[in-house]
Amino acid sequence: MPLARWGRSGGKDGTRETEALAGRAACYDGSPKPDLDFRRFLRVVMPTPTLHVSQHPAVLHKLAILRDVNTEPKKFREVVRELSWLLGYEALADVAVRPLEIRTPLEPMTAHELGERIGLVPILRAGLGMVDAMLELMPTAQGWHLGLFRDERTLSPVEYYNKLPDSATVDLCLILDPMLATGGSATAAIEVLKKWGAVTPVRIKLINLIAAPEGVAQVQAAHPDVEIHCAALDRSLNEKGYIQPGLGDAGDRQFGTGRSD
Ligand code: PRP
Ligand code: URA
Repeated sequence: MPLARWGRSGGKDGTRETEALAGRAACYDGSPKPDLDFRRFLRVVMPTPTLHVSQHPAVLHKLAILRDVNTEPKKFREVVRELSWLLGYEALADVAVRPLEIRTPLEPMTAHELGERIGLVPILRAGLGMVDAMLELMPTAQGWHLGLFRDERTLSPVEYYNKLPDSATVDLCLILDPMLATGGSATAAIEVLKKWGAVTPVRIKLINLIAAPEGVAQVQAAHPDVEIHCAALDRSLNEKGYIQPGLGDAGDRQFGTGRSD
């Protein structure tokens, strides 16, 4: 099956829209053609400058391992960490740097260091698995935890923990959560951050491993200023609010919970 990756393969004129209308588009990561109404899909999530779906081959490769039902929690956590590093690398591409005077063994030179103060906001509990990789990339970042869980019946987010400092003393907040499903948790997290003081010029970016069109649409409608970086944009949600094809429950798969056997 040919890969159908929007933005690269495209339709006859190479655009994402023509690819979808031709019925050849699948998920951004090249998984099989979904059985959805493409006009609905385009209406729900038109590609916009705020949505970034990684096209990196290493990301696609690792996603397959993550999605596989046979991947055990240890390996799952490892791949969450690796994918987070790769997505973080892409999401930081526009961060400002400032000059740094150093000496190489041969001579002095002007190098660079990160010029923005960064806050990492993992959404408990599944976002915890993304923190270490981000701290490797940005050792000076601060980590603040936000606890939200989705009420299984209403699918609405419930806040149960908030460890933000007294004031927003950063330039960029990265919200870390493997899954963007209905968008309820992400929207709630962004609202908490904005009320707390993360407003222009402070920027907020959302880093997800897998996103659903519904969640992207909700975040973009409520917070058009927030950039979303993800490894895959999947087909849709099922009746329980799970992303399809997705990877199942990201928290349960990392922490080995939720099994009946
Ligand atoms: C998952 C996931 C997101 C949320 C996404 O968390 O990690 O936070 O669901 O769904 P939404 O976009 O519909 O809000 P969950 O509520 O399962 O909690 P957990 O991390 O403790 O397992
Ligand atoms: N949360 C998850 O962990 N997985 C989904 O598919 C949706 C929400």
